[in-house]
Amino acid sequence: MMPGAPDRVRVHPARLGGSVLVTGDKSLSHRCLLIAALIDDAVQVGGLAPSEDVAATAQGLRALGLDVDLRVSDDGRLEGTVTGSLLSPLRSGPTGCGEDTVTIDCGNSGTTLRLLAGAGAGAGRSLILMGDASLQRRPVDRILAPLRAMGAVVDARDGRLPPLAIGRSTLSGVAWASDVASAQVKSAILLAALAAGVEASITSPHPSRDHTERMLRSLGVEVASSTGIDGEETVVIPAAQRSRMLGRPLIAARDPSAAAFWHVAAACGHAPISTPGICLNPGRTGALDVLREMGAGVSVSNEDDTGTETVGDVTVTPASLSGAHIGGARVVRCLDELPVLAVAGALSVEGLEVVDAAELRVKESDRIAVLARTLRSVGLEIDERPDGFHVPGGQRPGSGTVDAHGDHRIAMTAAVAATLGTGPIEITGFAAVATSYPGFLTDLAALGGRVEVLNA
Ligand code: S3P
Repeated sequence: MMPGAPDRVRVHPARLGGSVLVTGDKSLSHRCLLIAALIDDAVQVGGLAPSEDVAATAQGLRALGLDVDLRVSDDGRLEGTVTGSLLSPLRSGPTGCGEDTVTIDCGNSGTTLRLLAGAGAGAGRSLILMGDASLQRRPVDRILAPLRAMGAVVDARDGRLPPLAIGRSTLSGVAWASDVASAQVKSAILLAALAAGVEASITSPHPSRDHTERMLRSLGVEVASSTGIDGEETVVIPAAQRSRMLGRPLIAARDPSAAAFWHVAAACGHAPISTPGICLNPGRTGALDVLREMGAGVSVSNEDDTGTETVGDVTVTPASLSGAHIGGARVVRCLDELPVLAVAGALSVEGLEVVDAAELRVKESDRIAVLARTLRSVGLEIDERPDGFHVPGGQRPGSGTVDAHGDHRIAMTAAVAATLGTGPIEITGFAAVATSYPGFLTDLAALGGRVEVLNA
């Protein structure tokens, strides 16, 4: 099902340009599957990324007794049907509702683990959720605490790390104040409340991507969102919403975080690059705002409303880039793009400073430390800070060897740096790109990139 990616590659400097249809959005793909899994009717899904993370969610739902039938569509994304629900699975027996505890390997996928924990707890399922070495280092106390406040019986290694165990329980409503602005935390609570039929309100310090809220609203669920005077976001789902859900098709737009690699390559490079049909959710467009502020040409055309999300064709054109400072509420809007924006910072005149981004330390790797190591390996200066970094401007990547440390976004950042640099960069652990963007190398080649595969 998945094309995969080679583990060791050498990427050469190149003059990239053109247009590329990037893969399906990772966040939306997970939500299409998990929200479909709370609807009793068969639900059609489409536009999904054919990636390892999305496969982990599909596989988790199958283990819980749902029929998740996916095939590769003509455009390379996945489409299919989810039949059965977490509350009334198709299969009984050891993997069915009311039977034994089901153990699910979420691989590298934090979104699978956190959202499935919420939906599974709400549905009264008994689960153990585990993952690969990287995922087992990522905190889950941020979802354990609200689930526990709802009455869930949950436990984790050292109280805060996967594997995470959820016992069969009946949840009640909650008013939760999260100290991180995390769409995963917010979505885990929303899905738990929806599945359990109880009310929940979640307040976070800043707004985060609202894909779950939008997708639920498009299916008839009442979800209210508001922003307070200090910028905090409150989202409320009333009780008893599941019976309102319509079994409409759930289609993912293309991934703006995947497109961001090409946007940076264009902004710092030699020719425009277009990425048609990407999701333009305001929680995801922070990197485009930063590039625009640095002086890059960013134009959006063919904007369309899919009923859940705004999509559009984004074209980025090269410019001499000034610098940028990213902090506060803006961090959440470009969190996943900060590694590749660091490359734009190095190639800019004044550099890039990022603060308030300590969350980067608990991503697929400690992304501040691993980014610093990556940039230094190719001759770039970076000042690592507890909650961010500063990359001085006026630099150009040279050749070197980078270890992606199992982090897909670091692997792709290194590849973009190579295209903009003065010599080839060898990347080990490159196979991690399959986490979100297995077609990355194909798209790189289509834009004029030069890659040697050193071993599969
Ligand atoms: C995601 C939310 C973000 C993001 C991750 C996907 C989601 O994480 O970094 O890649 O799909 O909800 P947090 O919400 O935990 O910051």
